[in-house]
Amino acid sequence: MKKVRCGIVGLGQIGPMHCESVSQIENAQLVCVCDLDEEKAQKYAQMYRCDYTLSFDELIARDDIDLIHVCLPSGMHAEFGCKAAKAGKNVIVEKPIDVSLEAADRLIQTCRQCNVKLSCISQHRFDPDIDYLKKAIEKGALGKISFGGSHTKWYRSQEYYDSGDWRGTWALDGGGALMNQSVHYVDMIQYLCGPVEEIQAQCATLAHERIEVEDVAVATLKFKSGALGLLEGNTTAYPGFCTRLDVYGSKGGVVIENDVVKEWKVDEYPAPGSQVVEGPKGASSAVIYGKSHTRQIADVVNAILEDRDPLVTGEEARHPLAIVLGVYEAAKTGKAVKL
Ligand SMILES: NC(=O)c1ccc[n+]([C@@H]2O[C@H](COP(=O)([O-])OP(=O)(O)OC[C@H]3O[C@@H](n4cnc5c(N)ncnc54)[C@H](O)[C@@H]3O)[C@@H](O)[C@H]2O)c1
Repeated sequence: MKKVRCGIVGLGQIGPMHCESVSQIENAQLVCVCDLDEEKAQKYAQMYRCDYTLSFDELIARDDIDLIHVCLPSGMHAEFGCKAAKAGKNVIVEKPIDVSLEAADRLIQTCRQCNVKLSCISQHRFDPDIDYLKKAIEKGALGKISFGGSHTKWYRSQEYYDSGDWRGTWALDGGGALMNQSVHYVDMIQYLCGPVEEIQAQCATLAHERIEVEDVAVATLKFKSGALGLLEGNTTAYPGFCTRLDVYGSKGGVVIENDVVKEWKVDEYPAPGSQVVEGPKGASSAVIYGKSHTRQIADVVNAILEDRDPLVTGEEARHPLAIVLGVYEAAKTGKAVKL
């Protein structure tokens, strides 16, 4: 069987999840991991029986690697992704695609020009209940959508922000609760309810010190369809609550909590068969990644083997970034922002 050979750069919180996912995908193989920190690089190389290097240039120079996973601070995604593309590698970057539209566009264009695949992690698109709801909406099961709400009611401690120089900075995190933690659910609400046309917003930093960015963001949205929406991005909600998506239409509404359907009240379309699961407990800076990295990485691997676009292209990943930046602009100016 032909296998896609992978190299992973960045072995902090999320890189190891990529190592584990690749190890679970039949037609993928982890060839080499890379981090500036030799202890981490050695640890994961041993754990996954692969090579390691401390040099990204060395990683992308290898001719036995087809796909590079960029699991570095957000503001480094385009720079490292472009280098990998120019070395002829397919690219997966972690979310967000980068922290500015200019950087995102540079990465998208470079990958298209170099004729390599580009995907950006948005693993919740692959959660079974969200996928089920998306298909139901596409079939018109909810009727005309009037409202979409997205709430990320999380908590991150001061220690979390102090744990990395890049966390909570404009340059490398690109924003706070909304850009880093909530970007997943910004993507989900625009994925489910369609493109966003207009944004009004407020942001504040209320529960943390030594961060440049917001820890609470609220916004109202107007979708292109005319439907209205609400966004909440929060890392002040001590000790940590659920994520919630609400979608209401003329034939029914759905509430999703922690990526699982909590309420399904749709006239003529059955609920998915899943059980409601409990949310994170306790004083949580616990990071809830979900279980869908493996599904998304498997899609990228198959996209390479089948020479098609992955389900989440760079162009797709640009949408949530544009919304987050629109929220920041609206909050700064006090004016509505049109996308
Ligand atoms: N999809 C998700 O659920 C999810 C969850 C967490 C983080 N993320 C994203 O993943 C990215 C990384 O976040 P994190 O929390 O893992 O960060 P982190 O700070 O924990 O890890 C970053 C790693 O990169 C390494 N590194 C930095 N510069 C390097 C270089 N030039 N060469 C090689 N290694 C280098 C660091 O040593 C560190 O080990 C961010 O963009 C974040 O938004 C996504």
